[in-house]
Amino acid sequence: MEPDAPTPTPTTDPVAATSDPEESAARSSRGRSSADPERRDIMRWNIGTLHQAWYAACQSKDLVAGKPLARTLLEEPIVLFRAADGTATALIDRCLHRNAALSKGKVSDGCISCPYHGWKYDAEGVLVRVPSEGAGGERKRLRAERFPVREQEGLVWVWMGDPEAAATVEPFRMPIGGAEGWKHYYMYTDFDGDVTDLAENFMDVPHTAFVHAGWFRSESKHEPKRAEADVVRTHDAVHVTYHQEDDTIGFSERFINPDGAPMTHTDRFYMPNTTRVDYLWGERRGFVISSTITPVSPTRAMVFTSIAYRFGFLNPIARLFLPWYTRVVINQDVDIMEVQTGTLERFGRRRFFGTEADVIHRSIELLREHRLNGEVGVPPKRLEKRIEFWM
Ligand code: FES
Ligand SMILES: [Fe+2]
Repeated sequence: MEPDAPTPTPTTDPVAATSDPEESAARSSRGRSSADPERRDIMRWNIGTLHQAWYAACQSKDLVAGKPLARTLLEEPIVLFRAADGTATALIDRCLHRNAALSKGKVSDGCISCPYHGWKYDAEGVLVRVPSEGAGGERKRLRAERFPVREQEGLVWVWMGDPEAAATVEPFRMPIGGAEGWKHYYMYTDFDGDVTDLAENFMDVPHTAFVHAGWFRSESKHEPKRAEADVVRTHDAVHVTYHQEDDTIGFSERFINPDGAPMTHTDRFYMPNTTRVDYLWGERRGFVISSTITPVSPTRAMVFTSIAYRFGFLNPIARLFLPWYTRVVINQDVDIMEVQTGTLERFGRRRFFGTEADVIHRSIELLREHRLNGEVGVPPKRLEKRIEFWM
């Protein structure tokens, strides 16, 4: 068996283009390996250096032994499965033979078999069996592209950049409340929107009174309340500290804040795709909401949200009540992001005007735009700014 050359774009005679075995062998000897990525015009290759990152592909609990799981990250189809020892594995979701989707095949003994002619790949992506060649037929060692994978804090992360660079960067450490009294759960949500717009939404306070009216904050019936915040932009993060200790959110004040402690509210954005929002009331009560955003396409994303909470002896009640409440609130954001994304698609471009409250958004945009442009030119300077707005 000869490894095929990549199928050329048909010219005048598509049969002649691939039928000469010598021609085919010559192509494959040009140094191209079957495991080399194919640079198509997809997000993976056209977002500057933003592909050089770990992206969450699924929750650990959803990657069960013996079953393939199809995911699309940065428009690249990927199949995930567990090796014989349980290690999470990610391969390109495209059989080397005639390009059927491996995710439609079967997993056995830690290998995945294509549903079409049964070619079988191990967890390294190595082609280990070709049924049509019988036992022991001499085979070239073909390999399917394999992506570095890490599993931590209950998520399976896939590295979408150069494989050699994967060891130099850690996946984001999702705060899942390992400390005393903290509990945690994940929510998975499909969103319309690109990563920048979604991160801005997750960090945005002024929308809460409108999108989440009555659920999270409400538009002030009296005089709007003035809020101040310190914004710090570093080379790879945006930190926002709010100074409005009488701010309240959501449900019963007695439930979340029995001590009447002032609320501490900080929001953070970590490059390239993760936000963390902390609401703390003294030592005893708090929420930490962290969302990591994985682009599926320029206008679709998977969002994994960790909700960590500490409500003391009320934790068991919170466990029953919070998933319902947070699902309602997140779905309100899903709806508004669908509205925004639809408008952006209709107009084909962004044309944003802002207020002081949008310094946060602009900071996220600047950091991401620098990487989107391949990190050429001067990186965004450090910024420290106090902003004020009304809510
Ligand atoms: S297409 Fe996969 S084995 Fe033929
Ligand atoms: Fe929201």
